[in-house]
Amino acid sequence: MGENMGNLRRTHMCGNLRESNIGEEVVLMGWVQKQRNLGSLIFADLRDTTGISQIVFDDTISKELFELAELLRSEYVIAVRGVVRRRESVNKDIPTGEVEILAEELKILDEAETPPIYIKDNDEVSESMRLKYRYLDLRKPSMQKNLKTRHKAAKIIRDFLDENNFIEIETPMLTKPTPEGARDYLVPSRVNPGQFYALPQSPQLMKQLLMVSGMDRYYQIVRCFRDEDLRANRQPEFTQVDMEMSFVDVDDVIELNERLIYKLFKEMKGIEIKLPINRMTYNEAMNRFGSDKPDLRFGFEIVDISDIVANSSFKVFSGTIENKGQVRGININGYEDKFSRKDISKLEDFVKTFGAKGLAWIKITNEGISSPIAKFLSEEELDGIIERMSGKEGDLLLFVADKPSVVFDSLGNLRVEVAKRLDIIDKNALKLVWITEFPLFEYDEEEGRYVAKHHPFTHPMEEDIHLLETEPEKVRAKAYDIVINGDEMGGGSIRINNKDLQERMFKALGFTMEEAWDKFGFLLNAFKYGTPPHGGLAYGFDRLIMLLTGMDNIRDVIAFPKTQSATCLLTEAPTNVRSEQLKEAHIKLDLEK
Ligand code: AMO
Ligand code: AMP
Repeated sequence: MGENMGNLRRTHMCGNLRESNIGEEVVLMGWVQKQRNLGSLIFADLRDTTGISQIVFDDTISKELFELAELLRSEYVIAVRGVVRRRESVNKDIPTGEVEILAEELKILDEAETPPIYIKDNDEVSESMRLKYRYLDLRKPSMQKNLKTRHKAAKIIRDFLDENNFIEIETPMLTKPTPEGARDYLVPSRVNPGQFYALPQSPQLMKQLLMVSGMDRYYQIVRCFRDEDLRANRQPEFTQVDMEMSFVDVDDVIELNERLIYKLFKEMKGIEIKLPINRMTYNEAMNRFGSDKPDLRFGFEIVDISDIVANSSFKVFSGTIENKGQVRGININGYEDKFSRKDISKLEDFVKTFGAKGLAWIKITNEGISSPIAKFLSEEELDGIIERMSGKEGDLLLFVADKPSVVFDSLGNLRVEVAKRLDIIDKNALKLVWITEFPLFEYDEEEGRYVAKHHPFTHPMEEDIHLLETEPEKVRAKAYDIVINGDEMGGGSIRINNKDLQERMFKALGFTMEEAWDKFGFLLNAFKYGTPPHGGLAYGFDRLIMLLTGMDNIRDVIAFPKTQSATCLLTEAPTNVRSEQLKEAHIKLDLEK
């Protein structure tokens, strides 16, 4: 037994020793956090995944032991046998702070070079160093905590879904392109020259096939791959909690998922979310918040003033309306004095990144109205605007005039930006909302045609089906997203299970039936043989864990994440490959870069 561990066998974990252990002989194993040599005493903080215990080496006990302890350096891996005793100076900052271990035996299990990053939370080291030495970064208590939170959340979700008769089924990673609409990661097939698999953007089609198979309720905690531009809450490979149910409609999926969300927050955070969770239609969300993932932790709602300024002599406003545009504003109520002209011009630069041409403003100060546009507005118009926007002394009103998509995008992002700059968002608030009745289609300017907003199997709302051919832009979908604190945590829909309706959908999307069969033929074929009504949802699991851990960087909740440019600094993937490998995969790299 354990010759390499000096015949010692671990009896306790470092973080678990308490007053009640005083007098016990224990064996601990772990990493040396730090060693302090006081001449006749050596203190070592020993760390494992549970925490830290203080070890004392006393030169009056054994010279040999003391000399060995003098060799200890940070991150050495050791085993220590000793007796737990009360500490002279209690350390209130750590749970084991009442006690220490007087060492009787020490075995150095492995030495360590000086690590390139400190194993310490809140260390100011660059993220690229953290990612390059991820295995050291993961030794930090905060990172261990994040991964344990992730594990626990997965377990709660699995238990809940199991109790509700879902079964976990794995679906292929080497597959055909799925309909989520991001770019695919492709994998060449050696045995089928010139052909490629796509890594799944989600198990969407497979889970629908499982419903055709009669599995009734499926789930999977599953890796998905999307080659898209990365942001703070996006990774090229990320994890979904994916589910699908048979014989359900929108309310059934929502109701089950509310119970899941309730249980998750209750067990992870002790928070009891009020059920049912509020619902808001897509239209309402856009009109009030300029976004289909509204952050409801603060106000600054969007107000339409188009009718008031339609005939204004301020041409920026009236001209926009003439061209079928809109004028809308937000009231940054109470914060007029927090924004100088210079600050406002920074906000103007900000909205310009969303296509706005400018940012008009009105300040209501204790000395009256201050505004570069007031002189162009009639008294009636100015009064009308202020009344509509509930303007009071101390308020700052901000306006964008443009086509609706630009108005919503710029004001929707502006309200969030302003709230962040003012630092008024309550970090402890939890605002959940279902966004429902999404449009079935959106117009793709580049392709000059309608594309599915969710995917082409999404069921239209019954009352809108008659508009599929005539006014597709008005058709709403049986689709829903769960939005928490302004982030899309998950989304799903009820699917089409009727061949005629599916064909009409493809036509509306401008696919010929041939194209549709080429892409999704296996699914359409399956649908010939008796398809239950079905629908489902998928959560971004990493995003849920960000929320549960309070992290604002998705990489902090993933063990081995990728950078913004989709590289892995630890393994240095992606890499060049040997020319023989390329040849085997039938790939030639001679395209111009
Ligand atoms: P959707 O494409 O909305 O739906 O994805 C579901 C959820 O996955 C998360 N997510 C991501 N998380 C991190 N990095 C990414 N790159 C990323 N992309 C998406 C989001 C999102 O809400 N098959 C459908 C679900 C269904 O209809 O059942 C789907 O994949 O939190
Ligand atoms: P101008 O007459 O172009 O100098 O604009 C006067 C004010 O209106 C400036 O504060 C601009 O930022 C603002 N402005 C210009 N275009 C728009 C627009 N499309 N929407 C809102 N404000 C605008």
